[in-house]
Amino acid sequence: MDLNEAIATRRAVRDYKPDAIDDATIRALIDAAIQAPSAMNEQPWTFTVVRSRPLLDRISQEAKAHMLRTTPAGLLSHHLSDILADKSFQIFYHAPALIVISSRSEGPWAIIDCTLAAQNLMLAARERGLGSCWIGFAQSWLGTPAGREALKLPPSCVPVAPIIVGYPVAFPATVARKPAEINWIAA
Ligand SMILES: Cc1cc2nc3c(=O)[nH]c(=O)nc-3n(C[C@H](O)[C@H](O)[C@H](O)COP(=O)(O)O)c2cc1C
Repeated sequence: MDLNEAIATRRAVRDYKPDAIDDATIRALIDAAIQAPSAMNEQPWTFTVVRSRPLLDRISQEAKAHMLRTTPAGLLSHHLSDILADKSFQIFYHAPALIVISSRSEGPWAIIDCTLAAQNLMLAARERGLGSCWIGFAQSWLGTPAGREALKLPPSCVPVAPIIVGYPVAFPATVARKPAEINWIAA
């Protein structure tokens, strides 16, 4: 698959087969992630791979409860609070693996660097026939002391990109994009 096809067909996948992903495949995705550019070549990322189903279930429960507790009332729509209160909703869609990209540095570009690594990882997953989805719902709780402890991350690390990976039941159709807003500045 060439790069354009991977870019055009990568989708947020929310329905996974139960099949496990082996270490070599996870390493290949992380190898792609670390090819991302980073400010001053600092490479501030660290990767945590979670494949324990009980831990994924626990993180899902904790993250939903944390969001319900901490999201300001004005930002919590009925729809969102219903989803978060639904005990049967697992925020990782029962994907077999979660890769959390965290920043080891507090530098001004570290979050951006980790985000670039995340996009590489998701495109590399697509190229290998794997689905992925960034799970923002997990982020807030993972950044708490209890969340960092669950990931065995030192307090200095900031979880940036929780990304699920797995073999998709199917790749969803393209989600429509708004036309690009382009301002051409004449010479
Ligand atoms: C920062 C970020 C956070 C996201 N958080 C979630 C999430 O918590 N749950 C989810 O199902 N999808 C999440 N997504 C996926 C987006 O909903 C998805 O990328 C968007 O709808 C566009 O669809 P596409 O990725 O298939 O093109 C997130 C994406 C990004 C970039």
